[in-house]
Amino acid sequence: MPGYRVTSMAFSERVSRLKSSLIREILAAAQRPQVMSFAGGLPAEVMLPKVDWTDMPLSIGQYGMSEGEPALREALAAEARRLGLQCEASQVLVVSGSQQTLDLAAKLYIDKGTEVFLEAPTYLAALQIFQLFGADCITVPLEADGPDLVQLRTRLAQHRPAFIYLIPTFQNPSAVRYSEAKRDAVAALLDEFGVTLIEDEPYRELTFDGGSATPIVSRLKTASWIYTGTVSKTLMPGLRVGYLIASPDLFPHLLKLKQSADLHTNRVGQWQALQWIGNERYRQHRSELREFYRGRRDAFQAALQTHFADLADWNEPQGGLFFWLRLKQPLDTRTLLNDALANDVAFMPGEPFFPEPDKHHGYLRLNFSHIEPARLDEGLKRLAAVVRQAQIDKAA
Ligand SMILES: Cc1ncc(COP(=O)(O)O)c(C=O)c1O
Repeated sequence: MPGYRVTSMAFSERVSRLKSSLIREILAAAQRPQVMSFAGGLPAEVMLPKVDWTDMPLSIGQYGMSEGEPALREALAAEARRLGLQCEASQVLVVSGSQQTLDLAAKLYIDKGTEVFLEAPTYLAALQIFQLFGADCITVPLEADGPDLVQLRTRLAQHRPAFIYLIPTFQNPSAVRYSEAKRDAVAALLDEFGVTLIEDEPYRELTFDGGSATPIVSRLKTASWIYTGTVSKTLMPGLRVGYLIASPDLFPHLLKLKQSADLHTNRVGQWQALQWIGNERYRQHRSELREFYRGRRDAFQAALQTHFADLADWNEPQGGLFFWLRLKQPLDTRTLLNDALANDVAFMPGEPFFPEPDKHHGYLRLNFSHIEPARLDEGLKRLAAVVRQAQIDKAA
């Protein structure tokens, strides 16, 4: 190996704000087969569908359009209209996972010191990218049925954010689903103050009680918007196919940013996604997924009752992939990680889901979809023991 001299002085100013993704580090540590992982937002491996590539035309190997495959854009627009979002295929941009939507939005809006609004807690990879570009992240607390509207109004009156980023359906990490009333109220406030909405909905289809509410963007009358979804949680995350649908004023800018990022989303993944989106086979698969994950949610709830009832409070999630626990005696849950991993258990500490981690101790995000049922009980038992020990140590 040549001896490279570290020349970080030459890096861009924004790189000094680049935080490593704790979740990637935990997932790397959780690669050992014996580790019982509650950490990632991973689909259950047994539920990844068998895919057939035999009919894929050779021409798919050629460069494609930056907007995405025309037939896929049509299919995605039709699906969105079924949800109640009136849009045309010309507003759809196929992206490399919905993560890329967040990257493009950050590039479109954020300079150093730009104010953006987020839920507290929020998706940690969104925080990572918004902070990389220098955003000043202002939070609105979440209640059981959506954001605290009084605080949202107060903040809107005090600031002029570039956008607000929301995950209204089975939020990551809290599993909160906004009520109809809060969806309407949020839309009305954003119209009133003229604030752009970025609505991120990877978990919409994973509903366990059949509930489905139309997206907030479809309730807006005047504010600009970006709606983003993905096949990652309902088909295969490895395809790296997501999409954004934007109000017409924003679309051309997002398209240019997409071109400068990677020319276009990989066509092989897009071709496979098109074999599913909008057809009966996908509906059937999603219905099986819901059934399967509901079973895993129920088993997790029961195991949590056994091992965590005296340690934490939580709401049973009605969809998505996570339980969000609040310890009765808060402590910095990042300090539990080493002991948990030493006991072959991985979980996600709650602090990184807040822009000011040190003000929000005592939360844990536990994924219930990935762990095999046979190891669930043992995994939660060990995690509870780690929490108990830390609380004894703290009290001593
Ligand atoms: C809220 C949220 N947004 C975006 C993503 C990224 O998804 P994708 O795989 O489509 O990039 C995730 C993945 O966990 C997520 O939870």
